Amino acid sequence: MNFEFYNPTRLIFGAGNLKRLGKEVKRIGRRALLVTGGGSVKRNGIFDRAVASLEREGITWVECAGIEPNPRITSVARGAQLVRDEKCEVVIALGGGSTMDASKVIGAAALYDGEPWDLIGHGQQDWVIPTETLPVVTVPTLAATGSEMNCGAVISNDETKIKSFVQTEALYPAVALVDPELTLTVPKDQTAYGICDIIVHVTEAYFNGIDDTPVQDRFAEGVILNTIDYGKRALADGNDLEARTHLQWASILALNGFMAAGMNPAGFPVHMIEHAISAHHDITHGAGLAIVNPAWMRFAAKVRPAKFVQFGERIFNLKPKGSDDMDCALAGIDAYEAFLKSIGCPTRLSALGIGDELFTRYAEDSALVLRDEDGNLLGRPTMSKQDIVEVLR
Ligand code: NZQ
Ligand code: ZN
Repeated sequence: MNFEFYNPTRLIFGAGNLKRLGKEVKRIGRRALLVTGGGSVKRNGIFDRAVASLEREGITWVECAGIEPNPRITSVARGAQLVRDEKCEVVIALGGGSTMDASKVIGAAALYDGEPWDLIGHGQQDWVIPTETLPVVTVPTLAATGSEMNCGAVISNDETKIKSFVQTEALYPAVALVDPELTLTVPKDQTAYGICDIIVHVTEAYFNGIDDTPVQDRFAEGVILNTIDYGKRALADGNDLEARTHLQWASILALNGFMAAGMNPAGFPVHMIEHAISAHHDITHGAGLAIVNPAWMRFAAKVRPAKFVQFGERIFNLKPKGSDDMDCALAGIDAYEAFLKSIGCPTRLSALGIGDELFTRYAEDSALVLRDEDGNLLGRPTMSKQDIVEVLR
């Protein structure tokens, strides 16, 4: 096992932390761009509390509101222009993964003279990977992406119908100020999609990684089991702060690089396929994953049954007859899919009214960035366009 681990984001975690926002921002800058989504933070009072904390410390701010779920590159451009016009020194992301992702790219685009879309990988020859950005402070209001403490951002382009990503060291937030109380108002459906997203971040590394990663395997399984347990509790009672707290921590651990360290996943195929679908239909990321992941697992289990047998045994207490017990592998996937249904996630494209018209296009777009020399989608195993279409079917 060989790996390098680096994550410079300062993580401040715990209920009640929002009031520290002003103090933490003050260490970095005096004028902030405050980035928000479609208005949930206004309705639930989080915005006013954040602003009060900033103003107590003499931080001045200008707002970039209206970041869409599945954030658009046009919103990023608007935010970057505001940073320049208003001479902001720090970007504060107050919202879910969409707001945090947009904020990261706003910070980079503000220091870049060209088109912000150049910064997002979409198969172009001259991908301008950002090397510098304005410092970003993330304040998540939803447990799902782990964007608060990772260096990735996913942005959509309405003109080209591409949803793709950039992932690079410069995009690590300076500070992740995480206050699980802010997630108490997340509605049931978004809570369920978040649970799904967290689990898929784990399974992408777990199933696409190298063999023999015993420490990380148990870590990954622990994150999944706790996400299921506390996820169910958060769904039963949205005000269960303990459940919200553990869900939030699980979401961070699932994608801050630490859990996957040593697993060295060959790719993130389920995400790449979901992004391609989402670009056309604007579906919620976690809902798209709930559809693609079980189908992808059934495909991948044929190639590497042992890891799927282990999943069934350790997550769903199945009793395999051996490490190649395909029945057990498939029963584990069935149990996982049943869990997704039980929390209200869709598991078929048809449930979202999506037909097969664009399957070839999704297959093409899935492999725009993470692909091998022959254009196959990276993962374990790699996937031809035909394979992707089969999984979609
Ligand atoms: O926009 P507002 O009004 O704030 O409402 C949001 C939105 O409608 C709402 N919400 C958020 N916090 C809330 C709340 N409602 C009530 N109370 C609260 N406390 O929830 C809705 C969804 O928000 P969004 O930010 O879109 O969700 P999520 O955190 O799941 O982020 C999804 C985006 O992140 C990308 C996805 O592709 C998608 O674009 N991802 C980013 C990753 C990363 N940076 O590492 C990895 C992920 O795999 C993912 O691809
Ligand atoms: Zn995800």
